[in-house]
Amino acid sequence: MYIIGKEEVDAVQRVIESRQLFRYRGGEGGESDTFEKEWREKIGTEYAIAVTSGTAALIMGLVGLGIGPGDEVIVPAYTYMATPLAPLAVGAVPIIAEVDASLTIDPRDVERKITPRTRAIIPVHMVGLPSNMDAIMDIAARHNLKVLEDACQADGGAYGSKRLGAIGHAGAFSFNHFKIMTCGEGGALVTDDREVYERALIFHDGGSSFRNHAAELQSPIFAGWNFRINEILSAILRVQLTRLDGMLDAMLTEKRTIIEALNGTGPFTFNPIHDVEGDCGTTVALLFDSEPTMRRFLDGVHAVGVSADTPIDSGRHVYSNWEPIMSQQGAHHPAFDAYQLAPEPVAYSKDMCPRTLDVLSRTAYLHTDPTRTREDLDAMISKVKQVAAGL
Ligand SMILES: Cc1ncc(COP(=O)(O)O)c(C=O)c1O
Repeated sequence: MYIIGKEEVDAVQRVIESRQLFRYRGGEGGESDTFEKEWREKIGTEYAIAVTSGTAALIMGLVGLGIGPGDEVIVPAYTYMATPLAPLAVGAVPIIAEVDASLTIDPRDVERKITPRTRAIIPVHMVGLPSNMDAIMDIAARHNLKVLEDACQADGGAYGSKRLGAIGHAGAFSFNHFKIMTCGEGGALVTDDREVYERALIFHDGGSSFRNHAAELQSPIFAGWNFRINEILSAILRVQLTRLDGMLDAMLTEKRTIIEALNGTGPFTFNPIHDVEGDCGTTVALLFDSEPTMRRFLDGVHAVGVSADTPIDSGRHVYSNWEPIMSQQGAHHPAFDAYQLAPEPVAYSKDMCPRTLDVLSRTAYLHTDPTRTREDLDAMISKVKQVAAGL
């Protein structure tokens, strides 16, 4: 859910009229540099690199952290497939861990999945819900692992006193069409670590050695790709950023109103949240005691015109549907395939994370809408209450 309008149109017009669409044009200090400054100030990190997607940001994060062939990276069983694809892109193997009732990675299962080859954990703040970052950072410190936060669905969320993305060793954001902030397709990587930043910066732009910043790099330049953002996207993101706090506030207020109104009205509880203040508030998750009851709830609310869904039906977000991963087709060429490069074979099966499948199939989502009027919200709540009472 995002809000977009005339201000973004004006920003795009400004860039087009300037005829400066490329970010590295010799006269830096344009939209992309400014957005990166604004984003790192918002998230509270030393460095930010704006890029073309959240996937790019995740891959750059792993490159920055030095992850590569032979390494294992632990990811949750419930996330968009880009999370497990990112380790494969750098030659590492994703190891899939359960999520718990919070819909985020279960730290106890992370600990169980650690092997001598584990190098990193990617906790994902799914649907804006903060992962249990205290437990994850504690595991990482004890096992000498890196943490790359996937905050792609959690632009602007927080955990404790820090913004999501600023707690681990690096954090990745997405600004694609489905996200809280959007420019159609876009992303950002943040970190406090100069070396991670430099390596990610080099990787994101195969032409790094020709840029003004090349002289300041302490890390040796290696072959990179092209994940560069452009000035049009950055100009849109700068406007989107001005909307972020208001949206988060509106969504969280709606979520609290919905939870308060529905509490005790039907056979469900609310999925636990690791930081109720830092939650982005995009989604209200209702946890039922069985899948049939959850499905009756969904059928009931759909019949009265309320939009709701269940994460178990979300296809690309459930590990058992991750086709190239489940079949271990890790790359376009066998010599690049992380599964072929792995020192130990990895075993996946469709039922390897039963607790994840159980929680996802008992959970229903109601969605908040920062543009909805109080009247429409009350009408929605009263319809849901009626359905819940009849279950
Ligand atoms: C949790 C998660 N991680 C990573 C991504 C990848 O982001 P993008 O689509 O911008 O590459 C997404 C986007 O859908 C996501 O939801």
